Amino acid sequence: MTMEVLLRSPLDMHIHFRQDAMLDAVAPLSAQHFAGGVIMPNLVPPVDTVDRLLWYTSEVKRAVGNHRFQPYMTLFFRNYTREELVAAKPHIIGIKLYPAGATTNSENGVREIMSMKHVFAMMEELDIPLLVHGETHGFVMDREQEFCEVYRTLATTFPGLRITMEHITTEAAVLLLDEFENLRATVTPHHLIITLDDVAGGMLNPHLFCKPIAKRPEDRAALLAAALKPHPRLMMGSDSAPHPVDKKESAGCAAGVFTAPILLPLLAELFERNNALGSLQAFVSDNARRLYGVEPPSTTVHLVKEPMTIPERYGNVVPMWAGKTLSWSVRSVE
Ligand code: NCD
Ligand code: ZN
Repeated sequence: MTMEVLLRSPLDMHIHFRQDAMLDAVAPLSAQHFAGGVIMPNLVPPVDTVDRLLWYTSEVKRAVGNHRFQPYMTLFFRNYTREELVAAKPHIIGIKLYPAGATTNSENGVREIMSMKHVFAMMEELDIPLLVHGETHGFVMDREQEFCEVYRTLATTFPGLRITMEHITTEAAVLLLDEFENLRATVTPHHLIITLDDVAGGMLNPHLFCKPIAKRPEDRAALLAAALKPHPRLMMGSDSAPHPVDKKESAGCAAGVFTAPILLPLLAELFERNNALGSLQAFVSDNARRLYGVEPPSTTVHLVKEPMTIPERYGNVVPMWAGKTLSWSVRSVE
């Protein structure tokens, strides 16, 4: 008998949809499988005014078309006034903070995080979650672990502020989750599967290059153990980040791994191999619903253990593991 899994309203809590032609190409690839997702604001220029937020929301909804998909929008963190935060709150799930220059399109990010205490205090008071790209400007393999001190300071100084550590990649971040009730985290499927060896241990693989960079085997083991339980404050956020092929297969490769269309088969394969299929529902939906208090459209995704060969391209974007065959596939979405 074919193995199968039913998932209710899967959510992707960290997605890059971009804009214009790229948005039109990639939004349906998330919306065909997911009932909703958190849309990142690092456009050029960033989504950092209410006017731009409303424009981007309508662009995303147009690109999603008839799919039952709820976009959960974010603002790009800057020195907002209280009036701006009050006006934005009904339209967002949180505000995303990028340290300046940490990753793709983050040049307008924050230079001195602790100089923004007044904004964090207002977000705490208004109950607006803070989503964080947690990397310092240190040595690339140490950036996240070093940033854990900033998370610690934020979590203790603002105990009522809900803080999401986005796309965690280290054992240190997993351990931190247990220390503070107001910390939660997303983790990407690719960081549950690859290490730096897959990126640069043999021939360089630009399609696995992202920020934060994949780390050591013991980091991957800690992340995977937390996902398979799953940890009650850990959510699936793919960080699916499309770049045109010429920006990836080039000298000066852009950071970002494109996974949107393969996420659910990839996760089913991984969780089955670890005898944890029963944890998948909480990891891809229930934890996020509880932590953010969201009620996504009701959908049921039927996954079956039948092979899926990953296409070489989706338009001009090369997905993770292009050409490889996964043992699971999506049979239907109702
Ligand atoms: C993301 C992108 O391309 O927008 N890149 C990445 O490597 N993950 C930005 C980000 O989330 O860091
Ligand atoms: Zn991201």
